[in-house]
Amino acid sequence: MSEQTVDLVVLGGGSGGYAAALRAAELGMSVVMVEKDKVGGTCLHRGCIPTKALLHSAETADVIKEAAQFGVHGSFDRVEMTEVNSYKDKVVEGLFKGLTGLVKSRGIEVVQGHGRLVSPTAVEVDGRTIEAGHVLLATGSVPRSIPGLEVDHDRVINSDDALKMDTIPGSVVILGAGAIGCEFASVWRSFGAEVTIVEALPHLVPLEEESSSKLLERAFRKRGIKQELGARFEKVERSESGVVVSLEGGKTLDADLLLVAIGRGPVSKDLGYEQVGVEMDRGFVKVDAYCQTSVPTISAVGDLIPTLQLAHVGFAEGILVAERLAGLAVTPIDYDGVPRVTYSHPEVASVGITSAQAKERGYDVVEATYDLAGNGKARILGTAGAVKVLASKDGPVIGVHMVGERVGELIAEAQLITNWEALPSEVAQLIHPHPTMSEAVGEAHLALAGKPLHSHA
Ligand code: NAI
Repeated sequence: MSEQTVDLVVLGGGSGGYAAALRAAELGMSVVMVEKDKVGGTCLHRGCIPTKALLHSAETADVIKEAAQFGVHGSFDRVEMTEVNSYKDKVVEGLFKGLTGLVKSRGIEVVQGHGRLVSPTAVEVDGRTIEAGHVLLATGSVPRSIPGLEVDHDRVINSDDALKMDTIPGSVVILGAGAIGCEFASVWRSFGAEVTIVEALPHLVPLEEESSSKLLERAFRKRGIKQELGARFEKVERSESGVVVSLEGGKTLDADLLLVAIGRGPVSKDLGYEQVGVEMDRGFVKVDAYCQTSVPTISAVGDLIPTLQLAHVGFAEGILVAERLAGLAVTPIDYDGVPRVTYSHPEVASVGITSAQAKERGYDVVEATYDLAGNGKARILGTAGAVKVLASKDGPVIGVHMVGERVGELIAEAQLITNWEALPSEVAQLIHPHPTMSEAVGEAHLALAGKPLHSHA
């Protein structure tokens, strides 16, 4: 059994793990990263990147189908899934090559294989022990299911399966209206499928501001995406042509496929975490505000810990750990300040807290909603939606909630406003370029500052 000693061994090369490895190497640490599949993890290979490529193909299909409203005539022929997939795979492959090169150029050794934590300072891979001053657990997450709902990867599928399909389903039921459910609903509808979303809670994207959920529900209804909200899933049975999904109360839905999109669970089983004394909570690794576990030499980041399961959160947590280990002063992450985007058509984006959370936390809240109907660029693009800004009374902005095409790009500004704790009047002072969608952000702040321009007081 060979042994190697380094400053940091990272178990898992996804967003959280590789960000830590890159930053640690930059800060002069020797780093080994253990990965059983491909560096880049869920985000690059089975998540953010391939799904956004699919969404871009979907948007392109919509642009062609809707072109006549802009006076441009052409005809929509067909979507060729094999070609969509080769475009998507090419995007992933290009980024994978770039990332591999970056990791190599920083002198990080990638050990290919299935690693296990064997002590507070060691990871074992295929009989090889890597000793390190510090271990970072970053083994991520996989799609989860519920008891009695077996994903057969054929008619009952998860998002990993959905990304590999080379045909478009005629009809599909999607269980769960979080980001995964809404994004696939959007893609498949654009590609021509009959789509029904089943969500246990009363709204689509139920963690978002209620008004954002309602706007998305309206937009999806207009697109012909059916919604069963506040509906409890009972069972799924295979039929000759697909599946029959039964809801509590007796309603049944026939479709070619059922996509299970009810969340992702941590990958932490049989990896030696408990044996080494790492405290866990329902499969997640427990950490403090600095991503340190109950074992001082072990940290954990990304989807494996019970924080927002987003790639950009993984990046930030990875960087935080690397900097802490290198002895730099670090600040805990403010998870309320993390921007969130659902890249459906239309997009939903938010940062900060919702009205419901503000109420729970006892804020005296003032708010303004700017309807995109008043925004020139939104009219030009033909998109509906709104920008809603919440501020504490006589205080800073505490939340921004948006729906509409391209609002995923606008959230970057809202993120600065919220995290910098800007006052609405300070933002109102800043000039937004005309005509852009970003003006809607400016207009909402103008309204909140008591001087609305293109909106009614
Ligand atoms: P999610 O937790 O965001 O949403 C799952 C939804 O399923 C919830 O609304 C929940 O109420 C519902 N649900 C659960 N059990 C149910 C049942 N038995 N019947 C009906 N509905 C049920 O999980 P999702 O969408 O699977 O995504 C997993 C993770 O990946 C999330 O943390 C998500 O934020 C992240 N992600 C982020 C994306 C983005 O930022 N654009 C894209 C895709 C995923």
